Order: sequence, then structure tokens, then C-alpha cells
Amino acid sequence: MSDLSPTTAKDEPLIQVRGLHCYFGEKHVLRGADLDVYRGETLCMLGTSGGGKSVMVKHMLGLMQPDEGSVKIDGVNISTMDERALSPIRKKVGMMFQNGALFDSMNVAQNIAFPLREDGIKDLTKINERIAEVLEIVRLPGQEKTMPSDLSGGMRKRVALARAIVDRPACVCYDEPHAGLDPITADSIDRLIKRLQNEYNMTNIVITHELRSVFRIADRIVFMKEGVVYWVGTPPEMKASTDPVLVQFLSGIAHDGEKWASDL
Ligand SMILES: Nc1ncnc2c1ncn2[C@@H]1O[C@H](COP(=O)(O)OP(=O)(O)OP(=O)(O)O)[C@@H](O)[C@H]1O
Ligand SMILES: [Mg+2]
Repeated sequence: MSDLSPTTAKDEPLIQVRGLHCYFGEKHVLRGADLDVYRGETLCMLGTSGGGKSVMVKHMLGLMQPDEGSVKIDGVNISTMDERALSPIRKKVGMMFQNGALFDSMNVAQNIAFPLREDGIKDLTKINERIAEVLEIVRLPGQEKTMPSDLSGGMRKRVALARAIVDRPACVCYDEPHAGLDPITADSIDRLIKRLQNEYNMTNIVITHELRSVFRIADRIVFMKEGVVYWVGTPPEMKASTDPVLVQFLSGIAHDGEKWASDL
């Protein structure tokens, strides 16, 4: 297992996870996970199914409280905070949920405005400006009035991303942003992720099983296994690794890909 120090150090971590444990009843899901996320990096999380990636990210968003250990955002320990104290810190980390999670009864603009209204922003001009701004960023200008049912899968994800960044978070977490997308649409999501990083200095945490995307967008890769961060490194370090767990995982995915391709 490689050490957890960053290979491309950038100041102090934006998010720092230490000794994180999480139980669901008898089930010990996170078993002492440690992770540093640096400002302005794209960090991809890979791992075996059920290894704890989504649960880990939920802790980093403050949606779950650790049973043991701590999560610091911008140096502030959020693990013991109550809802009220947590609210301004939670805004630093946005989330793009797996299936887009849009409200089908609301149009695109209303969906995107949702977090702003929750913040108590009432100035309609300001709200509309922010909606137009984020729709521009996700390359969907002028789609304010469109209903989610009229959007393609890729467009839904882009609207979900617009909603995740409308609050101007420092970091966005994406849970399987490529799931259910064809390769070309998946590429467009990758380009957006990198655009947010390069043009807006956004920190990206991307949980995905798409290795093609990982090797294209990741500055660092985190491999989770059985509730711990098993390995951290850069894409070239992962490709060169002889760690049997990584080798098996990577070849397993490659085989799945071949199987998928041969099923066509
Ligand atoms: N609310 C919950 N109640 C009970 N068990 C849960 C809950 N949420 C997650 N788990 C369990 O925690 C473990 C880790 O789940 P998690 O969703 O973090 O895995 P993952 O690494 O994201 O997997 P996948 O790649 O399949 O999405 C799994 O065994 C899962 O069944
Ligand atoms: Mg998951």
C-alpha cells in the first residue's frame, strides 16, 4: 500500500478524513478510512462494490456523522457539529447525485434555484442571473423552462451539475456521473468536470467505475476496499502498480468491458 501523502501537494487539504468508522447495526462499513483532498484537484474514487465509497462521500458532505474519527473541511471539524453550525460549511461541498435526482414536477430553472431558495435568497434578478450563469457553464444555455422529462440522460446530469454548483461550492462530489451514459455523453461530462477544475478552480471528487474516464480526468486516484482507503496515487502510478489487489481489480474491469463489448 502506498503512503497517503499527496504526490502533487497543494497547500493544506480542503477535506481531511481521519480514522473514519461507520456502522450500520452490526455491519462495520468504514473501518478507519483516512483521506486528504487537495484544493483544485480532481480525485477519482475507485473500488470494489460495497467498499464504502458512497458512505465515505456522505460523511464528507456532512450528510452522515462518523461513529468514530473525524472529517475536517477547511480545517473545521464537522464531525461533531449540529445542523445549524453545519449549514454554512456544507455549502462548500456540492453533490451531484447518481441519477441526477431532479424534481420532475419542476422545470430546469426551478430545479437549479432550489438550493438558492433554501439559502433564503429571494432576489429574483440575482436568482435568474445565477441560473443563466450555471446553465452557460454546463453548456445548456436558455433551457430554463424545459421540464426534466424532456431532457436526455446526459442533459439531466448537466442540470444536476448546474444545481450542485449554483451555490458556488469549493468542491463537488459526483456519485457515478457516467452511469447509464454512452461513451460520447460520458466524455462531455468529463470535459465539464475538467472545465470546472481548470476555469473555476473547483475541487472534484468523482466516484466512478469508468476507468477510461478515470485515466483521463484524475490527478489522483483513491482505491477503497472493505471500508479503508487501500491505495492512493496518480494514474501512471496505478497503471504501473504491481499490487495484486489493484492488478486484479483493473483486469476485472477490463474483462467486464470486453464482455460488454462482445455482448453487442
Ligand atoms: N443506509 C444503509 N443501511 C445499511 N447498510 C448500508 C447503508 N448504506 C450503505 N450500506 C452498506 O454499506 C456498504 C458500503 O456501501 P457504499 O454504498 O458506500 O458502497 P460503494 O463503495 O459506494 O459501492 P458501489 O460501488 O456498489 O456503489 C455496503 O455494504 C452497503 O450495503
Ligand atoms: Mg456507491
